[in-house]
Amino acid sequence: MKTPHVFLMCPPEYFDVSYIINPWMHGNVRKIDNALAKQQWRALYDILTDHATVRLVHPQPGSPDMVFTANAGLVRGRRFLVSRFRYPERQYEEPYFADWFLDRGYEVMLMPRDVPFEGAGDALFDRAEKRLWFAYGHRSVLAAREAIESRLGARVVPLKLTDQRFYHLDTCFCPLDGGHVLYYPAAFDAASRATIEKLVAADRRIAVGEEDALAFACNAVAAGRTIVVNRATTAFVDALGRRGFEVVQTPLSEFMKAGGSAKCLTLRLDEA
Ligand code: ARG
Repeated sequence: MKTPHVFLMCPPEYFDVSYIINPWMHGNVRKIDNALAKQQWRALYDILTDHATVRLVHPQPGSPDMVFTANAGLVRGRRFLVSRFRYPERQYEEPYFADWFLDRGYEVMLMPRDVPFEGAGDALFDRAEKRLWFAYGHRSVLAAREAIESRLGARVVPLKLTDQRFYHLDTCFCPLDGGHVLYYPAAFDAASRATIEKLVAADRRIAVGEEDALAFACNAVAAGRTIVVNRATTAFVDALGRRGFEVVQTPLSEFMKAGGSAKCLTLRLDEA
């Protein structure tokens, strides 16, 4: 079923692992099977176009991680807050994403110069409450909170990430329709786990186990009741099924080598 959702994706023309900025990339420099990456990206694109509208941004040579559009920035209505990447390797992407939004009439806003913030990789709107889940600790910094609040008028709930393998919020946390939240508790510090447990009712929290977490099952693209992931256990599929969600699995092994999966490859544009 087609939903009104709109996602931004970037074709994997220049996708590669050419530097190491997260633990998943170790041992994978120049180990991408390009034909397979293109095929996997295309399969994800095809699934998403069945359920939503997908728009594209031109890939740029020299920016092998640009395929992970989740990190472009954060959209709210017609405003776009451009990411300020922590590592220089990805800072080249910033002007390209800014231009894409400028050309389409968005009000484009910048982060202060020395305040890293990696967009919808680290900031996810709740789907039931007026709140923005925001994580810091690896890529974005806590000080980004102020700029996000003042520029986008969002109510921010900060969460601290503590496991290097789950370096962006969208690798271990995913808000779903109806106020459900998928998350891997061990990726957060105790105070952040307590915050999640306080704000999300027990029957809405879906804590995933390590096997699913390491297969990036939390890195899910939600299009209505359809949840698209790289791979998931039957326990995960059943837990979501009981809550009325259908899980679609599509292998994204080549992107896992760069530390990304389904959700990282998309940026949701219809954020009210
Ligand atoms: N290699 C990329 C990086 O380390 C992967 C980004 C994945 N994106 C995400 N939203 N988790 O920056």
